[in-house]
Amino acid sequence: MTSAALPPSSVTVRVPAKVNLELLVGAPRPDGYHPLATVFHAVNLFDEVTVTTAPEWGIAVSGPQALGVPVDGTNLAARAAQRLAEVGGVDEPVHITIRKDIPVAGGMAGGSADAAATLVACDHLWGTGLSRSELEELAAGLGSDVPFLLGGGTAMGSGRGEVLAPVLARGSYHWVFALSEGGLSTPAVYAECDRLRGDRPVPEPSPSPEMMTALRSGDARALGAALSNDLQAAAISLMPALGDVLDAGLEFGALGGVVSGSGPTVAFVAESNEAALDLAVSLTASGAVQDVRRATGPAHGAHVISSPRPG
Ligand code: C5P
Repeated sequence: MTSAALPPSSVTVRVPAKVNLELLVGAPRPDGYHPLATVFHAVNLFDEVTVTTAPEWGIAVSGPQALGVPVDGTNLAARAAQRLAEVGGVDEPVHITIRKDIPVAGGMAGGSADAAATLVACDHLWGTGLSRSELEELAAGLGSDVPFLLGGGTAMGSGRGEVLAPVLARGSYHWVFALSEGGLSTPAVYAECDRLRGDRPVPEPSPSPEMMTALRSGDARALGAALSNDLQAAAISLMPALGDVLDAGLEFGALGGVVSGSGPTVAFVAESNEAALDLAVSLTASGAVQDVRRATGPAHGAHVISSPRPG
């Protein structure tokens, strides 16, 4: 019996978005990537990826943020499945369905999240049985943020973001994300950061004591004060309206605000669930933002939520 004749079997994985609580960027390396010292934080804004045994490889995208997501082999999720098939010696095509709720090209690692979810889903479906470190290595080959989305939580990232280390982080935080119309290209934002820096010497990035202390204390106010992103000036340079969004959020009571990753999503931390709700309402009413989302963090990384047995 060929695999195509087997009854369909599918696995669904839920995967969070991320925000960088701190993103310190060094001078470009010879390979073009920038060395980072970053604190990744996963939040409960999720995509869901379902992989189903199928006669041919295929991909479909639905959900509130589906617009503009490629539905061919260039989608990072499709590349993730193909890479795992190669490494695992699997010849069993899958159809990938992505339900997108994470903003596209928003600086919240939506594409990387789908790739991480696809790795976990296909590993489960095919029974490839890769170890966590083998999956992380595969993930790093797909993109700098992909390994973090496998584990989620709050973690330090170095190298180009793919080298992870645990961080002592207490408490949970209430977030409001201000979405912008249109995305920003990650390479373009890094290039703009280099351009703005000109010939100035750039120190090796290393984590700030303020952020480490804030995370250890679990104090949202200290976290708000410690939020920082070296790509923020570049994102604002390419999309000046982001400066107004940041000002508006702080004026409406956020404890701190920062451009998420390479933007253009802006993340605000609030004192409580109620304060986050008030902030979201004020930002929406002000007309300064296209849309808002509320979330809490940390959230778990990519995990299986359903996997019916075939037959
Ligand atoms: O690793 P990933 O494919 O997500 O990176 C996308 C782009 O972002 C890279 O091609 C590079 O231009 C930029 N980048 C960088 N330094 C990093 C991570 C990403 O310059 N540490």
